[in-house]
Amino acid sequence: MSENINIEKPFHPLFKWALIASMFGITLWMIYLVYIQPQQRIGAAQPIPFSHRLHVTDKQIDCKYCHSYTDRSQFPGMPAVQLCVSCHKYIIPQHPEIKKLHSYYDNKKPIPWKRVFFQPDFVFFNHKRHIKLGVECKTCHGSIEQMDRVTQTFPMKMGFCVTCHRQNNASVECYICHH
Ligand code: HEC
Ligand code: HEC
Ligand code: HEC
Ligand code: HEC
Ligand code: HEC
Repeated sequence: MSENINIEKPFHPLFKWALIASMFGITLWMIYLVYIQPQQRIGAAQPIPFSHRLHVTDKQIDCKYCHSYTDRSQFPGMPAVQLCVSCHKYIIPQHPEIKKLHSYYDNKKPIPWKRVFFQPDFVFFNHKRHIKLGVECKTCHGSIEQMDRVTQTFPMKMGFCVTCHRQNNASVECYICHH
């Protein structure tokens, strides 16, 4: 008798429920990956909620208008408060965040932006040569123009730099990047 049952039901009856439970679990995991996790990848809050998406994609302001590398300041590559004010004297001057901007300007204080991209001290990096060669910002920084808050979407480890140097016959001597 019991042998017959075993033939008709080769699996333990709990197997069906275990299968249903694991399908349910996998579905939840997919929902997490697709809908919840990307939101966690937005960057840190900044002193003023500056949006690249708004300024670059909607308002068509060029990256180099704000990040000019020729004149290096205390915050290399970061726009001076004055540059923001040159527009925002006229554009939405009564917006609460723009009032904050004006108070930095009036007190002659730089905005303490939180850094997102940085290399350790023992690495030498210079934008100029790369940009002159026509390497796009995106290649190293990802799609900044779509971000409301800047974040690093992929790491820039040594292998990343060296791979491109090899492909382009640029130097891979240690001293080039490590003085
Ligand atoms: C070339 C002109 C220009 C420059 C330079 C500029 N902005 Fe703007 N900004 C705009 C425009 C246009 C808007 C959209 C205004 C509107 O909503 O009507 C805007 C909107 C904003 C807003 C409001 C966003 C919101 O949520 O409504 C903030 C905050 C802001 N800018 C900060 C800055 C900061 C900080 C800088 C300097 C790093 C800066 N802007 C430089 C043109 C500029
Ligand atoms: C209107 C001025 C403006 C424009 C245009 C602009 N940026 Fe920025 N950018 C800023 C400001 C202000 C910050 C600092 C606040 C922040 O991180 O959002 C910043 C931060 C960054 C950072 C992070 C720096 C760090 O390590 O903390 C990167 C990378 C960057 N911008 C790249 C770009 C690229 C690429 C473009 C063009 C697609 C661009 N920016 C256009 C003003 C600008
Ligand atoms: C070849 C890779 C590469 C390219 C291309 C590149 N960057 Fe960077 N960027 C870096 C690295 C690496 C850092 C961190 C530098 C450091 O810590 O010394 C950085 C830092 C920055 C910063 C932080 C402030 C600073 O100057 O240190 C800004 C802003 C920035 N990049 C904007 C841009 C913009 C705008 C472009 C395109 C015009 C661009 N980058 C193209 C690799 C790159
Ligand atoms: C997309 C390709 C690419 C990537 C990514 C890249 N480089 Fe370069 N880099 C080049 C090329 C090509 C040259 C040669 C430039 C020349 O010959 O003028 C170069 C030159 C250099 C130089 C010598 C230029 C000088 O100013 O003396 C240094 C230093 C350097 N890269 C560091 C780095 C570091 C550090 C990284 C990673 C954070 C990096 N590069 C990522 C393509 C790249
Ligand atoms: C094109 C630029 C470049 C060249 C060439 C290069 N490095 Fe690096 N190296 C880097 C960067 C960028 C980092 C930092 C990686 C990170 O943030 O962890 C690094 C990190 C390191 C570290 C720290 C450990 C680690 O992996 O983070 C060592 C050790 C090192 N490099 C040794 C060397 C030696 C030895 C050579 C020559 C054979 C060399 N590097 C050539 C860019 C370079």
